[in-house]
Amino acid sequence: MNLALFGPPGAGKGTQSQTLCTHFDIQHISTGDLLRKAVKEQTDLGKKAQAIMKTGALVSDEIVIGLIEEEILNSDKEGFLFDGFPRTLAQAQTLHKLFIDQDMNLNKAVFLDVNKALLFDRLTGRRVCTNCGASYHIKSKPPKVENVCDVCGGKVEQRNDDKPDVIENRLKVYEQSTAPLKDFYSKNGKLVAINGEGDPKAVFQRICEAVK
Ligand code: AP5
Repeated sequence: MNLALFGPPGAGKGTQSQTLCTHFDIQHISTGDLLRKAVKEQTDLGKKAQAIMKTGALVSDEIVIGLIEEEILNSDKEGFLFDGFPRTLAQAQTLHKLFIDQDMNLNKAVFLDVNKALLFDRLTGRRVCTNCGASYHIKSKPPKVENVCDVCGGKVEQRNDDKPDVIENRLKVYEQSTAPLKDFYSKNGKLVAINGEGDPKAVFQRICEAVK
């Protein structure tokens, strides 16, 4: 099973990816996580990406595609879930070609649909562990001890790009660069649109129904 999960920032891609990857026993590949790791380690790529990510703009297709190719080619898993990739038409076309070259097939491109007010609430309230990346929300899923990760005891804080002005820009960038993928995947018969609102377990059930 190979799935691509796309949608606006805060749609729940990361949240659903965790459960879907366990359920289907496939590898989670999040370009956002890979880029944040590179930033944390201050690699050359991470230094380049850091300045771009702070503004909510997209990192270049070339960098992101390089990361994806490396993950696929070095994996021993049979299937993948791409979280936040592709995000541009060029990325979608490259993934299509990469799959043909590797004799693989993308089963579905899952679009998570959530209204803007809810996206804002989710993103401004999100907190993440700086050590293990576990994700929380100040209202719906707070850590048991304030600012301390339940999983590893690491420090829980707001992501740099979860400030209101950066969120506005991320939403604009999404509309310009990523929303057109709905049309791309609809034309090749891969698109499934899922209501991403409501309980995360209900969203998970909707996705499973749609991709089986
Ligand atoms: P990335 O990390 O991919 O960020 P994003 O797409 O903006 O998505 P988010 O991680 O913000 O949200 P999400 O949809 O995963 O939601 P989550 O599950 O966390 O990318 C960051 C940056 O990296 C980009 O801006 C760009 O610069 C760069 N980048 C990444 N990929 C790239 C690419 N392919 N090309 C170029 N540049 C790239 O949920 C959010 C919150 O809501 C959480 O608090 C969660 O607990 C809560 N929540 C989730 N679901 C529910 C629910 N059903 N009900 C209630 N609360 C919920």
